[in-house]
Amino acid sequence: MRKLIFVVVLLVGICACPPAGGQSASPTTQSNTPATQSKPSAAQSKPSGTKAKSPSPQSKPAPSRRWWQTAVFYEIYPRSFADSNNDGIGDLDGIASKLDYLRQLGVDAIWITPFFPSPQVDFGYDVSDYENIDPIYGNLADFGQLQTAAQERGIRVVLDLPLNHTSDQHQWFLDARSSRSSKHRDWYIWRDGQGPKQPPNNWHSTFGGSAWQFDPKTSQYYYHFFYPQQPDLNWRNPAVKDAMFDVTRFWYDRGVAGFRLDDVDALFEDPKLRDNPILPGKNAYGDPNMEDRYNRNLPEVHQVLQGLRKIADQYDAVLIGETGTSNIDQLKSYYGAGKDELQLPMDFMFTMVNKLSPPEFRQQIAALNSAGWPVYLIGNHDMERSYNRYGDGKHNDAIAKVMAGMYLTLRGTPIMYYGEEIGMENNDPKTKADVKDPKGKLGWPQDKGRDGERTPMQWNDKVNAGFSKTRPWLPVAANYRTHNVATEVKDPNSILMFYHRLLELRHTVPALLEGDYVALNENDPNVMSYLRSYKDKAVLVVLNMSAEPQKASFNLAPQGFSTTEAKTLLTTMSAMPGTAKITEMTLEPFSVFIGEVSR
Ligand code: GLC
Ligand code: CA
Repeated sequence: MRKLIFVVVLLVGICACPPAGGQSASPTTQSNTPATQSKPSAAQSKPSGTKAKSPSPQSKPAPSRRWWQTAVFYEIYPRSFADSNNDGIGDLDGIASKLDYLRQLGVDAIWITPFFPSPQVDFGYDVSDYENIDPIYGNLADFGQLQTAAQERGIRVVLDLPLNHTSDQHQWFLDARSSRSSKHRDWYIWRDGQGPKQPPNNWHSTFGGSAWQFDPKTSQYYYHFFYPQQPDLNWRNPAVKDAMFDVTRFWYDRGVAGFRLDDVDALFEDPKLRDNPILPGKNAYGDPNMEDRYNRNLPEVHQVLQGLRKIADQYDAVLIGETGTSNIDQLKSYYGAGKDELQLPMDFMFTMVNKLSPPEFRQQIAALNSAGWPVYLIGNHDMERSYNRYGDGKHNDAIAKVMAGMYLTLRGTPIMYYGEEIGMENNDPKTKADVKDPKGKLGWPQDKGRDGERTPMQWNDKVNAGFSKTRPWLPVAANYRTHNVATEVKDPNSILMFYHRLLELRHTVPALLEGDYVALNENDPNVMSYLRSYKDKAVLVVLNMSAEPQKASFNLAPQGFSTTEAKTLLTTMSAMPGTAKITEMTLEPFSVFIGEVSR
C-alpha cells in the first residue's frame, strides 16, 4: 500500500503521467482526445487490442463497497456531447468515439439522458417508444456497439427512464385519447372538468399553466405535470407498472447497468384530486405559487420503487433517483425503510446551497450521512452550470477546483455533469427567439430555460469547439477557446488535469474509497475541512472557500492521529512542500489541499 501511495504522490506531484498498473494513458499523450468527426466504424468504436471482458470498473470495489458506491458517474446529454455525422446534434456514435477520453478521465459509469424515439418537445424526456433509439441518435445496433465498447473499457452504461409520463405521440396515449373505452384509456389520468373551461382542480404544471389539458375528442381533461405533450401515466393501473417494469428488463438484457429514474417524486397523485394550497407570490410563468401537496412525494411511490429494485437486483444494477425533496426525511424515505428502494437518490438540497458556504455544506453533508449512502452532484442539465453558480466571476477556475476537491472526496457517490471537468460555463440565450427549451419561452425573461447549461461539449478551440462540423443545435459557450479538452490536457494547472488527479486519488487511496467522514474545525466560516479515515491512514481535505488567505490548524488526536504533518497528495497551492505542517497551514484564496496522515 505504501508503494501505491508513493506512486500516486509522485504522479500527482510531478506530472500527468500514466498511473503505474492503471489503464489510463497519459493525458498529455492521448491521441484520441480531439473530437472524432467522422462516424466511427465498428472497428473504430472497438479498438483492436481491447479484449471483450465483463465490466471491470476502474475502481475495483473496495471490500465492503458495492460497485455503485466506488464508481464515479458522468452524465451525458447526448444531443450535446459529440456529433459523429455532422448534423449539428450529438449521437451515440459520438459518445462511442469519446469513451477513451472518459476512461482516461476516470469515469466508471455514464448516465445518458433519454435517447429513445421522441418528438423532442422536451428534448427526449417525452418518449414515444421506450424500446428503441431515436434516429437522430442512431439505432439499436449503434447502442449495442456503444454498450460493448464501454464494457471493454470498464465503463457501465446507465439509461434515463422517464416513468412519470410519456410523449403524447406514444402509441399508448394515441390509443388512450381515441375513445373513453379504449384499451389504454386508464393508462393516463382523465377527468371531467368542474364545469365549462374549468379544469378538475387547481394543480399547475411545473412548466407553467394548468396541469390539465382539455381533449375535445372525448371531452375530458388529461393530467400533465410537465408540458401538455407529456401526459402523466396512471401508476395506479397495474398494467402501467407491468409495462414499465418490462422496459427495464428489455434494457438490462442488453447490458445496461441501471437507470436514472426521472421525476420519481411525481408518479402518484391524490385520487381525490384535492386542490393544492396556494402560497404567496407568483412564479416565472405568472402562476400563483403553490405547495405541491397532493401531486408530489406521495407514499404510494415506494411500492413501485421496491418492485423496480427487485428487478434491478437480479442484474446487479443501480437505481439513481431524480428525487426532488424538501427535507432530509423525505430523501431518506427513497432509500426504502429496508434499504430496498433506490441505492442512489440524488440530493438536490445540496445543489441548492448555491454559494461557497462551509457551514451550509457541513450541515447538508451531516444530514445526508445520517440518511443513507450519499449521492453528490453540483450540476446537471436542469440547472445553471456549477462554474457560474459558485464562481465569483474572477476566480471561477480556482473555485471550480475547490468544488471538485469537495464533492469528489466526500464519502458517497459523485455524479459529474459533462463539461464540468473543463470548466464549461452557461451560455444562456440572448433573446427569446433564440430559446429552444419551451420552458424558457414560457418563462422569458425571468426563466430563460435550460439551453444555457446544455451547450456543446468543448473538445478543442477549433470551429464549433470540435463538437461538429455543422452549426450545432445550441451555440457553443464563449469560453471554449480557453476551456476545452485539447488545450487543458496540455496544461498541468488546468481544471481538467485537476480532475484527472483527483479521480486517480479517488480510485486508489483506500481512505477515499472506504473511509468515514469526520468534519473538522466546524466553526470555521471560510475553510471547509474534513477527515476521511480508514484503518491506520486518513485523508485530510482542506478547502479555502474564501477570496482571502486563511490560516488553519488541525489537531487530529481526537481522531486517533497524533501527527502534526500530512503528506501532500494534491494541492492547488503554489508553494506546498511534500510534507505539510498541519498545525499551522496558510491557505491561498480558493485553494485545495489534500494530504494523507498516518497513525
Ligand atoms: C426531469 C428532467 C428534465 C425534464 C423533466 C420532465 O426533471 O431532468 O430535464 O424536463 O424531467 O421529463
Ligand atoms: Ca448527429
